[in-house]
Amino acid sequence: MFGPSIEGELIRLDPPKTAYAAIYIQWFADPQLTHYMLVRNPPSLRQEEEWLEQVAASPNDIIWAIVLRENGKLIGNIGLQHIEWRHRHSHSGTIIGDPTQWGKGYATEAIRLRTIYAFRELGLEKILTSVSSGNERSRRALERAGYKQCGLLRRNRFFHGRWHDEWLGEILRDEWETQQIDQK
Ligand SMILES: CC(C)(COP(=O)(O)OP(=O)(O)OC[C@H]1O[C@@H](n2cnc3c(N)ncnc32)[C@H](O)[C@@H]1OP(=O)(O)O)[C@@H](O)C(=O)NCCC(=O)NCCS
Repeated sequence: MFGPSIEGELIRLDPPKTAYAAIYIQWFADPQLTHYMLVRNPPSLRQEEEWLEQVAASPNDIIWAIVLRENGKLIGNIGLQHIEWRHRHSHSGTIIGDPTQWGKGYATEAIRLRTIYAFRELGLEKILTSVSSGNERSRRALERAGYKQCGLLRRNRFFHGRWHDEWLGEILRDEWETQQIDQK
């Protein structure tokens, strides 16, 4: 599925357009972007277009484009993957494709908007994620949005000539609801 438009303060989540596939493959050609990711080789345009079609047709995955609110410029992607409807949980992933846009709080806001949608619209109970050790930017954005560590898989990913641990994070609906009350 593609996610519906959701307005934030700095960014908006939008359903992705097919034309974005050409931009996505440029992002994945940048080793700075893929440094801590499992995807390490850029897909072809056709593969990327097919991937968008597959996600659109999937009842268990939701993807949004992250665009700047001020001018609609595409800056990233965010999604809920492998939604388990019976167990009411999902995996999640986020990228801000242009490194010059990092550190401006865009991912934190996008993660917060996705969490509201997952808990208030989809009725999920939990969202999970994992981050390679060293990807402090990603872990910080998740923690700022309310995720907490729930595990650490030691020496679980091998890249750049060495082993990396995998940080497992989760956000639970009731704990998140309490945070919303505390922030009021
Ligand atoms: C991870 C990613 C989505 C974060 O996006 P972003 O828009 O830069 O994130 P934000 O600006 O919302 O938040 C980044 C946080 O990391 C902090 N940060 C930035 N650089 C950092 C660094 N080198 N070390 C530690 N923390 C850092 C920021 O200060 C901010 O935390 P704070 O506000 O609590 O200080 C983006 O860097 C990205 O797309 N990376 C490549 C793809 C990727 O690794 N995706 C995640 C896969 S799990």
